[in-house]
Amino acid sequence: MGKPPAMAPELANSEIAQAQEAAWIEVIRKMEEVYSDLIQYEIELEEKNTALEEAQRFITSVLSSVSDILVVCDSKGRIQQVNLAFLRLTDIAEIDLVGHPLGDFLAEDVGSLNHWLEAGHGGDREVRFVHRGQGVTDPVALTCATLLDHRGLPAGTVLTGRPVGELRRAYEALKQAQAQLVQQEKMASLGRLIAGVAHELNNPISFIVGNVHVLTKYRERLEAYLGTIHQGIDETEREALRKSLRIDTLMTDLPALIAGTQEGAQRVADIVKSLKRLSFSQSGGAEAVNLAEIAENAVHWAIKGRSTLPDPVISLPPVLLTPGHAGQLHQVMVNLMENALDAVNDQGNKAVITVSGHRQDAQVAVEITDSGPGIPPENLDKVFDPFFTTKPVGQGTGLGLWISYGIVRDHGGALVAENAPGGGARFRLTLPAI
Ligand SMILES: Nc1ncnc2c1ncn2[C@@H]1O[C@H](COP(=O)(O)OP(=O)(O)OP(=O)(O)O)[C@@H](O)[C@H]1O
Ligand SMILES: [Mg+2]
Repeated sequence: MGKPPAMAPELANSEIAQAQEAAWIEVIRKMEEVYSDLIQYEIELEEKNTALEEAQRFITSVLSSVSDILVVCDSKGRIQQVNLAFLRLTDIAEIDLVGHPLGDFLAEDVGSLNHWLEAGHGGDREVRFVHRGQGVTDPVALTCATLLDHRGLPAGTVLTGRPVGELRRAYEALKQAQAQLVQQEKMASLGRLIAGVAHELNNPISFIVGNVHVLTKYRERLEAYLGTIHQGIDETEREALRKSLRIDTLMTDLPALIAGTQEGAQRVADIVKSLKRLSFSQSGGAEAVNLAEIAENAVHWAIKGRSTLPDPVISLPPVLLTPGHAGQLHQVMVNLMENALDAVNDQGNKAVITVSGHRQDAQVAVEITDSGPGIPPENLDKVFDPFFTTKPVGQGTGLGLWISYGIVRDHGGALVAENAPGGGARFRLTLPAI
């Protein structure tokens, strides 16, 4: 390379100075640009940080307010995060937990648990943790799920759980509430029965009371008539008295009045007898009961107070013997009848309910078919569920069929719901025959 061309030294110096100055200006401008970008970044960063802290606080407060325990582990099984419920359960400080293997805090053999954790999902498992003071915690029903990272790849496990004692207590409370509801339903059906009984007794009793009232009046007239005769009066006087006291009419009425009173008393006796047969207690073993009689009886009970509907068509043989509890089977039949009556309620005198029965081989069966709207196919397997009802609030608890199903099952029988070919629902009850 040759030498640079010669220049006048002053000229060269001033050009260099100019170039240097321009370069400096450029550098300072760039620096200012960078600086202002930096400030911008810092503001953005602070904003993001604030949002992040906010999110963190939110998540922490949510996690500490849930009562279930929560433990997050990394892919090596080391604890990454726990919530307040877990700290309370184990009484161990967070700082002693985080970063340590979860296995260190399990109070039992971890071998099989590791497989479970690796599987990353699945059902509940009962686990006890180490407790700082008491050695071990109460058993916890633990569920495990896989923790995914931002790319959706497995990054660890999330364990959630709840002390089994708590679950058991909740389950017990639920069972108790359920038993109470069943009891309430029984009380309600007892209430309906009593109302029916009262209605039924009212008729013959008012009949008897009316008759006795007339009989008392007749006695007074007879007393007056006989009293006067015994004093010794002549025939004309006696005939006059006989007419004025209307003794002949009285004598003609008397047999009908006595028969009517007897009939009323007999009706009361019958009702009481049928009630006695209905002993609702479950004590005592099964005895031979006549399902046909129970069904017929139940039909009569159920239609009380539904005078707008035609009487059901009953085609039952006289006897269908099955081993069982009359009171319980009566309850089943009344439930089925009430459902059928509800189903046809708006059909007025077009409503048809058929109750038929027969014995087939080792079974007795009773079928109740109604002309109602039937049961939508999607509900056919739901009608026996507890609390399933399509009736308005206050008109159905949805326990009738559930209770009936239980009773029939306990009797070794079956209760099936279907839709009859001509529309309307049909319930078929089968029980072992004697
Ligand atoms: N004969 C029927 N026709 C049409 N649907 C019926 C019939 N019987 C039962 N169902 C349906 O099954 C549901 C459940 O019946 P279930 O007897 O268990 O309860 P419920 O009658 O609603 O109430 P509860 O019997 O406790 O007063 C009813 O709400 C109704 O939807
Ligand atoms: Mg019902």
